[in-house]
Amino acid sequence: MSPKRILQINSSMMGDQSYSKKLGNAIVTKIMEKYPNSTTEQLDLVEMHMPHLTPETLQAMFTPAEHQTDEARALLGLSDKLVKQLFESDILVIGAPLINRTIHTSLKTWIDHITRRGVTFGYGTDGLPMGLVSGKKVYVAMSSGGVYTDAQGEANDFVAPYLRNFLGFLGMADVTVFRAEGVHVPVLQDTALQNGINSIVID
Ligand SMILES: Cc1cc2nc3c(=O)[nH]c(=O)nc-3n(C[C@H](O)[C@H](O)[C@H](O)COP(=O)(O)O)c2cc1C
Repeated sequence: MSPKRILQINSSMMGDQSYSKKLGNAIVTKIMEKYPNSTTEQLDLVEMHMPHLTPETLQAMFTPAEHQTDEARALLGLSDKLVKQLFESDILVIGAPLINRTIHTSLKTWIDHITRRGVTFGYGTDGLPMGLVSGKKVYVAMSSGGVYTDAQGEANDFVAPYLRNFLGFLGMADVTVFRAEGVHVPVLQDTALQNGINSIVID
């Protein structure tokens, strides 16, 4: 098996106590077992205080490269770096804690920075959107206080469907979600992480 370049993304506010990070670490370990000599790059979106898009950065994104000023190019520096990091990875392991029914804002902001027309998505001759980030495998390490895999929970899970949908829009259609769920449910909290780890299968 040829080695892979793994990009591990963390968006938890809980530091090393984070369930999504621990689950993500277990996913990375299993990927390394399957693909020896793989490399891992860490991207901690909370630690780096991922900045929101500003009106100026957005304008720079909308400006064709040949018309960009030095200032506009500088504003796009972070986005360019994140896009390059994404393209240079083979496998993404995305830690996604469920926060107020959805993903943490740092993860949403990462998505905002990597979503670039003409770079990570475009439009085909039929006018339909076309993802330009191809050939990636994505594993999502999701953690949640409650349970979102039963019938009632599924209707309230906006994390897995959103990530599948939007990563798919960018061309990353191969998304597998593993969960440490029920970490705040008394009868589940002691086993939630281990159950998530036990469910990991690397394909
Ligand atoms: C601000 C905040 C909001 C949360 N909102 C939800 C929620 O809407 N639903 C839920 O099931 N758990 C919720 N939780 C619990 C987290 O999903 C749970 O603590 C999870 O382990 C967080 O991931 P982490 O340990 O990787 O940080 C919330 C936690 C925090 C801190």
